[in-house]
Amino acid sequence: MTRKFVVGGNWKMNGDKNQITEIINNLKTGPLDTNVEIVIGVPAIYLAYVKSIAPSNIAIAAQNCWKAPKGAFTGEISPAMIIDVGCNWVILGHSERRTIFGEKDDLIAEKLKHIEFLLRLMVTMLCRIRHAQTGFYASKIIILNLRIKNILACEKFEDEKLEELLNQDRCQALTELGKTLQVKHALESGLKVIACIGETLEERESGKTEEVVFRQIQALVPAIGDKWNDVVLAYEPVWAIGTGKTATPQQGRKQTLHPGVSRDNGTSFPDIGDEKPIVHQSAQDVHAALRNWISTNVSSDVAAQIRVQYGGSVTAANARELAACPDIDGFLVGGASLKPEFVDIVNATK
Ligand code: G3P
Repeated sequence: MTRKFVVGGNWKMNGDKNQITEIINNLKTGPLDTNVEIVIGVPAIYLAYVKSIAPSNIAIAAQNCWKAPKGAFTGEISPAMIIDVGCNWVILGHSERRTIFGEKDDLIAEKLKHIEFLLRLMVTMLCRIRHAQTGFYASKIIILNLRIKNILACEKFEDEKLEELLNQDRCQALTELGKTLQVKHALESGLKVIACIGETLEERESGKTEEVVFRQIQALVPAIGDKWNDVVLAYEPVWAIGTGKTATPQQGRKQTLHPGVSRDNGTSFPDIGDEKPIVHQSAQDVHAALRNWISTNVSSDVAAQIRVQYGGSVTAANARELAACPDIDGFLVGGASLKPEFVDIVNATK
């Protein structure tokens, strides 16, 4: 079964109008593989501008948003504002939101919850104006690096019951309930969800990669239900993000990871010195293990059609090798999405 390649670019806090225009012009020149789905995560201040200059084959995402439609939240933007400027994706819960800005799961769950409310409103409006001649772009939510743990069994809550639960001062319930309902509702509203999973350096160093990613994907199952067609998984090992360290592509090739690497944001990992390096699985190994888990725990059909992206220090130099792996169906790209080489990454399967 062929799976449509999907490449995300996350510009993070980079670029100015001139540089952004240059990047978009470079993407316009391409040429870009028309068989690849492309979504660019843009700094909020430039969303409207990029939307006005980007070609129609490139979707635009905000990189974060707050959990309310408006109010005294200095410096934040709301989902309504993202939609208002014509963008229909948002990146929420990226690992940098947690590691650098200390965003906790409950806040992300609340943000997701708010978007759910807005989308319900939009879907209602759509139902009312279904036959009007207006275009309608359902907002799509990229749920990146959302570590959804121990998700509650998915059940329908009446609104008042939901409000009662959500108002209770129980972060855990809010986190899990918010995330469960958001993922489920986002899918029920016709949105496509990119859900990221991945282990930290510590978890990888202790050989827990599969245990962690299986737990994370298990948490998604009740929220996804029968809507696997609208879900893309992204395996983004946290230790590979911005570090220049990439999970090796080849199937079966084991990787020794020396954690003395430094992140581009200045923090470095404690060097384990000359202790015996720990051998790790390759990106393909983890993707294959994920697909096998889905085949066993969901269905062989879902396992065959689900797209699993790889994210973490993807470049033009390693993209082809990664893309050639049978279980890697796309990328989530940070640093390299700002460079002309992003075209080569998008075209990695050509
Ligand atoms: O969102 C993409 C990011 O997690 C990967 O960043 O710079 O390692 O490609 P980078």
